[in-house]
Amino acid sequence: MHKGFTIWFTGLSGAGKSTVSEIVYAQLKEAGAKVELLDGDVVRTHLSKGLGFSKEDRDINVRRIGFVCELLSRNGVIAIAAAISPYRAVREEVRATIPNFVEVYVHCPIEVLAERDVKGLYKKALAGEIASFTGVSDPYEAPANPEVSIDSSKEAIYDSVAKVFAKLKELDLL
Ligand code: ADX
Repeated sequence: MHKGFTIWFTGLSGAGKSTVSEIVYAQLKEAGAKVELLDGDVVRTHLSKGLGFSKEDRDINVRRIGFVCELLSRNGVIAIAAAISPYRAVREEVRATIPNFVEVYVHCPIEVLAERDVKGLYKKALAGEIASFTGVSDPYEAPANPEVSIDSSKEAIYDSVAKVFAKLKELDLL
């Protein structure tokens, strides 16, 4: 058995939030844990359908994800969120509602992201074809004191995953 808690992945689009969180999710599930994954890209197809990328809409999106994470955590489920969640104040607001909140900052230099450009969005954003694109033409406020910090341009994916599990054990959550 385990207690409920929330693992919150924040970072720029394409930095590796989904990749790392999906592996953490799969490993926890495999070990028999009760766990749910809320990914920004997926949440925006239902719970946050219709929201855009203004500061107001992003804040609403992040608060909604935080609301669900709190409900799950309170009921003994491990909630994993993966969303850009660019504004520190709203992340801190969510943290304040969840007793065991583990923030994972997934960093990657913008040059590397633009090079990788898995979804082709950086090319468009840099060409001015997408307004308010995080990291290019919209702010991203990095966490000051995340529980875990990952640099996906320097670390292998499974090393990043291992860091998350090491922190969960250190915090006595697993
Ligand atoms: S958040 O800012 O509200 O936390 P969220 O994680 O849900 O963002 O969604 C980010 C995803 O939306 C990106 O990975 C990208 O695929 C897509 N997207 C579309 N437009 C933008 C934009 N202007 N800025 C950032 N991401 C965008």
